[in-house]
Amino acid sequence: NLPSLFEKYKNYFKIGVAVPYKALTNPVDVEVIKRHFNSITPENEMKPESLQPYEGGFNFSIADEYIDFCKKNNISLRGHTLVWHQQTPSWFFTNPETGEKLTNSEKDKKILLDRLKKHIQTVVGRYKGKVYAWDVVNEAIDENQPDGYRRSDWFNILGPEYIEKAFIWAHEADPNAKLFYNDYSTEDPYKREFIYKLIKNLKAKGVPIHGVGLQCHISLDWPDVSEIEETIKLFSKIPGLEIHFTEIDISIAKNMTEDDDAYTRYLLIEQAKKLKAIFDVLKKYKNVVTSVTFWGLKDDYSWLKGDYPLLFDKDYQPKFAFWSLIDPS
Ligand code: XIL
Repeated sequence: NLPSLFEKYKNYFKIGVAVPYKALTNPVDVEVIKRHFNSITPENEMKPESLQPYEGGFNFSIADEYIDFCKKNNISLRGHTLVWHQQTPSWFFTNPETGEKLTNSEKDKKILLDRLKKHIQTVVGRYKGKVYAWDVVNEAIDENQPDGYRRSDWFNILGPEYIEKAFIWAHEADPNAKLFYNDYSTEDPYKREFIYKLIKNLKAKGVPIHGVGLQCHISLDWPDVSEIEETIKLFSKIPGLEIHFTEIDISIAKNMTEDDDAYTRYLLIEQAKKLKAIFDVLKKYKNVVTSVTFWGLKDDYSWLKGDYPLLFDKDYQPKFAFWSLIDPS
């Protein structure tokens, strides 16, 4: 039996994994999850398209199964995600009478705000006390825009106001859940500055936001581990703000075909070294970094098809990356 990953880090932070629903029904997956992880993120099953595929048509059966699984096995659940520009059905942004795309007229704004409110209140309310952290808003920053706001349907119709509203309504629905802003490429110096300003401004306005989620979809080439530390340092300047690493994977290359040659093994060793270096940084900041989640259980489950970005290989064998987190020192 392998040493347990979450046991190893229990004095530092939670160790999480994102899993598709099928993993919860596979006994081998379940064993690995229970042994190594004390937090779970539903990979797609709590996104708007899963929970409310058509207006008012809430479907909670799969999400409920995650909740039951976590309760039964004493695992915490990270909710992902309430507001995003992807995996959100187009009905959200469509006028029910005309069938046309909503505009930024006051009438249309009200339609979308009401939908946002209803979605958040229904979902967060249903799982009140059962989800320890929610990614309330996902990927709202685009560092190529002068004001930093991604031109999503949410923004185009509502302006930046949708962000604070989402946090306010989520907090009303579950005052004890930790509410997060979540994004990728947070190691980019320009992008992290925009995110920092966004969170600072929300806090200054009294908006209930408790943490920043750093996705950490990275590769061997980028970013340098020092930039990950810079990002942690920056967000640590906001008093009381928690940091979660929400979606870690380390891509070694796209579309590898041969998985047993020396070059592949070399890349997997480099991956292990990088992950170890990252964890050495995270441990230093254990007062602010409270949860660290991998975006997938094993390589063949990863959204990065043909890549080898996770801790276990397709046969559930622990990779160098896994051992780099277990070894003492
Ligand atoms: C990905 C899932 O892993 C895929 O299965 C799905 O097809 C697309 O979404 N950032 C996020 C996650 O916040 O929700 C994404 O998950 C990966 C990028």
